[in-house]
Amino acid sequence: MCDSSSSSLAMGERRRAAAHAMLFPFPCPGHINPTLKLAELLHSRGVHVTFVNTEHNHERLRRRREGAVRGREGFRFEVVPDGLRDEERAAPDSTVRLYLSLRSSCGAPLVELARRVAAEEGRGAPPVTCLVLSGLVSFALDVAGELGVPAFVLWGTSACGFACTLRLRQLRQRGYTPLKDASYLTNGYLDTPIDWIAGMPTVRLGDVSSFVRTLDPTSFALRVEEDEANSCARAQGLILNTFDDLESDVLEALKDEFPRVYTIGPLAAAMHGRVVDRANGHGGGAAGLSLWEEDAACMTWLDAQPSGSVLYVSFGSLTVMSPDNIAELAWGLAESRRPFLWVVRPGLVAGGINALPDGFVSETKDRCFIAEWCAQEQVLRHRAVGAFLTHSGWNSSTESICSGVPMICWPGFADQYINSRYVCDEWGIGLRLDEELRREQVAAHVEELMGGGGGRGEEMRRSAAKWKAMAESATANGGSSYVSLDKLVEQLRLETE
Ligand code: UDX
Repeated sequence: MCDSSSSSLAMGERRRAAAHAMLFPFPCPGHINPTLKLAELLHSRGVHVTFVNTEHNHERLRRRREGAVRGREGFRFEVVPDGLRDEERAAPDSTVRLYLSLRSSCGAPLVELARRVAAEEGRGAPPVTCLVLSGLVSFALDVAGELGVPAFVLWGTSACGFACTLRLRQLRQRGYTPLKDASYLTNGYLDTPIDWIAGMPTVRLGDVSSFVRTLDPTSFALRVEEDEANSCARAQGLILNTFDDLESDVLEALKDEFPRVYTIGPLAAAMHGRVVDRANGHGGGAAGLSLWEEDAACMTWLDAQPSGSVLYVSFGSLTVMSPDNIAELAWGLAESRRPFLWVVRPGLVAGGINALPDGFVSETKDRCFIAEWCAQEQVLRHRAVGAFLTHSGWNSSTESICSGVPMICWPGFADQYINSRYVCDEWGIGLRLDEELRREQVAAHVEELMGGGGGRGEEMRRSAAKWKAMAESATANGGSSYVSLDKLVEQLRLETE
């Protein structure tokens, strides 16, 4: 009796040790950051981790900080080629090229990598027992098939963003897209109410996704989005960077369609008992694998600002702005008369910082800090930051929620419209700017959100504090995201039996 139970215990222990997740994100910050955070959490729960970067990004990260991709016991970094030629990386459609190149050339190297890792069994790591993919790399579901292991997809948007992306197919089939002609972009058609997405309130057609704004019946972006989202049905589980209280209705509806949904968010660094903050051994650090140099001086500048006084302005890793919009934004910030920290990423606008309007920097120099990139999560958690002017990318939105910072939303791509709709109308923590930026509106929204004297700004700051507390509860021991992560880890282990 005693013998058999101890031997089954030993077998159980072996199974525990045997779970080995190979994680492969689409190689851009919006996908790498949450996938790395998930990797840290899995590792903290005893799962072996192989985190796969592209050779190009790996080299970039290593050059920037030697230790960034060194790995540690049970957590290794590996690489696969992305197949892009150097001149393609600077092309305006480089993300599309990267997507296509990965699809056509990356499957075999991933299989080879997993087999090489398996061949090294006995030198530390057990064979790969499952793949965890981000969105946009659905081709790797076939890799999992070839390896005979299950795949899980961490879809990097909100649950509402995912539900909307799934329904792009029905929008096309029901004739909402493509648009009949260019006038439909401005004639009110994008305000058409959509009231049939399960679990969601009535939303504007234009808020379902940026990809509905197409006249092309064969729109590449539209097809990619709908195919990628729908291909999640082929995975053994869907992992979402959200929490139950934040999106309960749409999550309930998704669970009808996807039998295994793991809501483990927010995956911001401060969450989940700060395990991601502590897990600095490999040098990835709380800010994730940052592809750009983070400007440390902006933190010193923030230290010198009064609490809640600073507007943080940033548009993530992909947004490209026109010179007109940059000028309206710049003069709106100038008119707001408040201190601001603005991330002008290389590539945000042609010409970079030199594209800022004449006279703007000298006029605002006493109260502005312009950085090319920063440690955003640390910035948002800094006591001086009072509001965030954002493009409503999902990582940025969740990082803001986790920090209790209300938002001014200027969405422009993919899920950013629906995120913004929820931020403003469902969660009551933001104000939205029009698509064409106007300096008066920028200044007025900043004043409304950050100004004293009660009113809507005060209400939003209170709501932001409430959602922050709820995010903390969800990720605390016993909270909904904590429990969901436990279930995911258990499933990964079961799959190894
Ligand atoms: C993309 C899509 O645009 C977005 O709509 C989707 O939800 C996720 O993938 P991106 O545009 O880069 O991502 O935005 P976002 O999701 O907000 O991710 C940006 C990441 O870069 C965040 O984790 C943010 O903390 C980080 N960041 C941004 C920095 O670390 N420093 C900066 O200066 C700016």
